[in-house]
Amino acid sequence: MKNDFHELVLWSEQEYSLLPWRQNRTLYTTLVSEIMLQQTTVGTVLNRYDDFIKQFPQLDDLANADDADLRSAWQGLGYYRRAVNLLKAAKAIHQNDFPKDEEELIKIPGIGPYTASAIRAIGHDLPALAVDGNLKRVLSRYFNVDTPYEKGLDTDLRELANKKQFGDILKKNGPRRVNEALMDLGRTICKPTNPLCLTCPLNNTCKAFKKGNQALFPVKINKKKTKLTELHLLRYICLEEKQILLYQKRKGEWLESQWELPTSCISCPEEDFKQYPPENQKIPESKPVKSSITRYKIHNYPFSTCKNVLLENIPQYKQRELKFFPMSDLPLISTASIKILKNIKLL
Ligand code: ADE
Repeated sequence: MKNDFHELVLWSEQEYSLLPWRQNRTLYTTLVSEIMLQQTTVGTVLNRYDDFIKQFPQLDDLANADDADLRSAWQGLGYYRRAVNLLKAAKAIHQNDFPKDEEELIKIPGIGPYTASAIRAIGHDLPALAVDGNLKRVLSRYFNVDTPYEKGLDTDLRELANKKQFGDILKKNGPRRVNEALMDLGRTICKPTNPLCLTCPLNNTCKAFKKGNQALFPVKINKKKTKLTELHLLRYICLEEKQILLYQKRKGEWLESQWELPTSCISCPEEDFKQYPPENQKIPESKPVKSSITRYKIHNYPFSTCKNVLLENIPQYKQRELKFFPMSDLPLISTASIKILKNIKLL
């Protein structure tokens, strides 16, 4: 088994050692990258990480950041609550004094069990396991751990770091290297469906591979998928002299305080849907730009027109602040709006 893990870390270093958060790392950059990488793909973080660190090179720079700066640095990463947690943690940690002890780490506002174990394992290189979605899948398959997701699979897997068998593997191969290699494996080989077991460096000793039961892990009790609600939205493109018309989302609305293309809802199965004003229009036949938010699957239809037509069609926008912005100097704008502007080649 030990040789397998040696192969695994060599493979990971060969393939992925150039990821930016693996360069010049400090405990601070580990805190940033680990919070960014929660619920966000490596590809998305790749686009944002370097700029973020350039803007906030040290813990103190972040601790003194104001909300507007943080929001713009977080643009494109989504789930802004994570940025709020990051800021809370940065303010609470003084002079880069990151505790090593799990209990001490968890006491820091903004740091939960995952971030605490990531700081221990990846930041301090201590025997711990940063059990994210990838590690849940890889380790539950590897050891055939059948604790369901909903019944504390993450806690059971984190415990493996304290058991002799796996603790020794971590120490021998380096906890940081093993953790990152397991993440790389989960992302690229030990995938949720159709895992590429024949190319896996752990296939000699993986219980799931031996038994052919990979598909059973991780065990989930609640297999019911949340039902998606389909929304069809018209997105108004009012472009005048290279300036685009946007409005700002209010408190309590989706994407609070972000700017967005003026939008109407042309079809939604929910009668009490209030996020966008309704508009009586047929669903266009053109191919929509797809996006999603919470349990809504959104079909976006760009509609080029002028401000007057917008106000005529959707009078609700008379009560909102509408503003033209130069395309070259956009404010913090929603990810869906960016996607739409890119789709019609305005960005
Ligand atoms: N996911 C969470 N942390 C990660 C890391 N350090 N490298 C790659 N993927 C990750």
